[in-house]
Amino acid sequence: MKQVKVLLEDQEIPKQWYNIVADLPTPMRPPLHPGTGQPVTPDDLAAIFPMNIIEQEASAERWIDIPEEVLQKYLLWRPSPLYRAYNFEKLLNCPVKIYYKNEGVSPAGSHKPNAALPMAYFNKQAGTKRIVTETGAGQWGSALAMSTQMFGLECRVYMVRVSYEQKPYRRMLMNTWGAECIPSPSSLTQAGRNVLAEHPDSPGSLGIAISEAIEEAVNTKGSRYALGSVLNHVLLYQTIIGLEAQKQMDKIGVYPDVVMGCCGGGSNFAGIALPYVCDKIHGKDVKIVGAEPSSCPSMTKGPFAYDFGDLAKSTPLLPMYTLGHDYIPAPIHAGGLRYHGMAPIVSHLVRENIIEARAYDQMKTFDAGVKWARTEGFVPAPETNHVIAAVVDEALRAKEEGKEKVILFNWSGHGMIDMAAYDAYLSGKLEAYELPDEEIERALKAIKDFPKP
Ligand SMILES: Cc1ncc(COP(=O)(O)O)c(C=O)c1O
Repeated sequence: MKQVKVLLEDQEIPKQWYNIVADLPTPMRPPLHPGTGQPVTPDDLAAIFPMNIIEQEASAERWIDIPEEVLQKYLLWRPSPLYRAYNFEKLLNCPVKIYYKNEGVSPAGSHKPNAALPMAYFNKQAGTKRIVTETGAGQWGSALAMSTQMFGLECRVYMVRVSYEQKPYRRMLMNTWGAECIPSPSSLTQAGRNVLAEHPDSPGSLGIAISEAIEEAVNTKGSRYALGSVLNHVLLYQTIIGLEAQKQMDKIGVYPDVVMGCCGGGSNFAGIALPYVCDKIHGKDVKIVGAEPSSCPSMTKGPFAYDFGDLAKSTPLLPMYTLGHDYIPAPIHAGGLRYHGMAPIVSHLVRENIIEARAYDQMKTFDAGVKWARTEGFVPAPETNHVIAAVVDEALRAKEEGKEKVILFNWSGHGMIDMAAYDAYLSGKLEAYELPDEEIERALKAIKDFPKP
């Protein structure tokens, strides 16, 4: 029998998260206060996040301890299994070995609880009573709903309207875990009302939902905001994926040639990639590739610029690849990838040519996802289909080059609550969507006067 899974014992779970900031060969640009144009201070962020999380956001410590209570709850599904995708390899018939971390085994079905649990824990420690957040496809919202419930906090989630309608079961999951879920744009906030006044049928976007959640959090006593991707501390918490993968690959004596993940705000990709980026910075020969949607191609078509993280301009200015904060992505089914910007850490690494980015259209990704489901069994989330399309691409390149390659990728979540998307694809109702250059030019006008990084 061939070994299909590499497992770690509970006791082998990594006890610290890895902070790439300590190892970057060139420093990142700081986030700026939009009013003063100066780097933000911890006090500027204090109305939004608790101080313990702000300290991690700004930390340059290489290793950060995972609190005992978080570790104990991680053990509900971590260490997650590392699989070898023999059946998919056979279908592709290319000279590649494909390994993947299955993050779909978490209770919420994706990698998102890796960050939601510590966020709920640190908020509880800091005295927060209630967390307000946004969600795209509902994966982050449901992960935070579960995590706040586990640490005895209340939770409200603004969910991008198009996903709220496409994926009703995610709302039901959030409700089951005790959270409220509101379709965004909503009439509950000024940010939402402004959008509705101009576009009553707005499908919503992560940028709008973030504005709504921040507005409510800063105006409600005992409440704080939580972001499910993009920021340094979120990427930090996700590094448990790559740290486990390294232990698992060590157990079988294999080192990857290529490490891949799909990119919305960058958190699951960074989670698997950053420990390997550390190896690469220290001389290892490893290619690291992020896959984004061609309908929201921040890294492959956007400029590296200072921009807001949300439509209402309530965040600091972040140095990142961006399509402009008022860009409303097409309502593709991979709702978790519909974000105008990219994590500053991931953006920095792309800019420094340490990692690469590629874009895939919805049709190609569903084609890859269906092939995966029909060979490996597990049905991937539409977001995850993007990295599977990139894996197919990489395998075909290996064949062309006549080289053997080991590919490791992050299987960020399952698609069991996204079956309407598969139904639309299988019945010929989905379309490819490339972002027209004029739309990028239009959206970028919104940031033309911002400071240049
Ligand atoms: C399954 C899945 N994969 C990927 C993503 C993209 O987010 P990120 O880039 O932060 O990992 C999401 C976001 O909701 C998701 O649900």
